[in-house]
Amino acid sequence: MGGIGNATATVTIRVKRFAPRPERPNRSAVTALRKPASPFGSTRKRPRGKQWSQEYTLRVHPHDTVLDCLLIIKRTLDPTLAFRYSCGHGMCGSDAVAVNGTPTLLCTARISDYAKQLPQNTQNEGFRRTATVNRSAAATRGFAASGGNVTETNTTETTEDTDANSVSATDANATVVAAEGTVAPTPLAPDLGIIELAPLPGFPVQRDLIADIDPILDQIKRLQPYLQADGKLATTREGKVDVFEYLQKPEQLAKYELLSNCIACGVCEGSCPVFAGGEAFIGPAALVMASRFLNDSRDDAAQQRLDAIDTADGIAACQSVRACGRQCPRGIDVGEEMWQLTTAVRER
Ligand code: SF4
Ligand code: FES
Repeated sequence: MGGIGNATATVTIRVKRFAPRPERPNRSAVTALRKPASPFGSTRKRPRGKQWSQEYTLRVHPHDTVLDCLLIIKRTLDPTLAFRYSCGHGMCGSDAVAVNGTPTLLCTARISDYAKQLPQNTQNEGFRRTATVNRSAAATRGFAASGGNVTETNTTETTEDTDANSVSATDANATVVAAEGTVAPTPLAPDLGIIELAPLPGFPVQRDLIADIDPILDQIKRLQPYLQADGKLATTREGKVDVFEYLQKPEQLAKYELLSNCIACGVCEGSCPVFAGGEAFIGPAALVMASRFLNDSRDDAAQQRLDAIDTADGIAACQSVRACGRQCPRGIDVGEEMWQLTTAVRER
């Protein structure tokens, strides 16, 4: 991580934040009697709470990732900011968010690729921004090694009786400057612009940038993502078990190897205009898992797998928009896989 140690520029991170309101205990009986939000029967609760936008300006190196920025913010500016990550290098899939509206992983999104200059007349719209705090001034204000500032605005709160998708503004454009420092713009630190972060689209938000990704995992589980082989193991000429492995030729492995790299990050689902939480469409991530086993020469459950995806919310719900494959961090052509599954279901 580059961080501020070799910082050469400033960037502003604008985060769409959300703080859930605790459930009222005595409303559980009423909630249980409510109709499910989806015609497909989902009873998943949509959280209610306070929403607002918050800006953090910090010194960075352009090659840092957006995750580096969030870690700096979390450790030195605002410990209340919530986001999820684990491996830090594109392997675990836990940190998918919308960066400038595009679903991607925090740990692979470089500042230089995403920072954008806003048009002059929209730069300060609805926001009160302070100039970058220099590091010595920050230290005297308890921001040791921070080199940044925080601006909060556009506070809104969901109401108890509205649908989760609709919010009513109670404090629109409320502006709170959490840290104002001595204005000391450094001529050697060019402003890279702004990066906007929001939780992964299509999923219920739990807090700030943390979305509830259980729908992905539930849908993947539904398609039984494990090898279902008939138990025939390699044998010797005498009929004895030779190795306790299901052997495969390299060309058979090549048919599904790339698909087995899926990390269930949900980027494809966040990009899909049909997915929207998996209620009407099982989603591309689950279907990629199904395709992985359909292409595995050792698997004997092809018919059951095709039956499982040949449903109204299965492959039939795919509209072939092909937005799903544009940002896959593992290089899977998800749209092409959806098309291959559509063909396989039609032709059987
Ligand atoms: S197919 Fe790609 S984008 Fe979709 S869940 Fe798997 S790794 Fe993520
Ligand atoms: S933190 Fe693991 S993929 Fe980004």
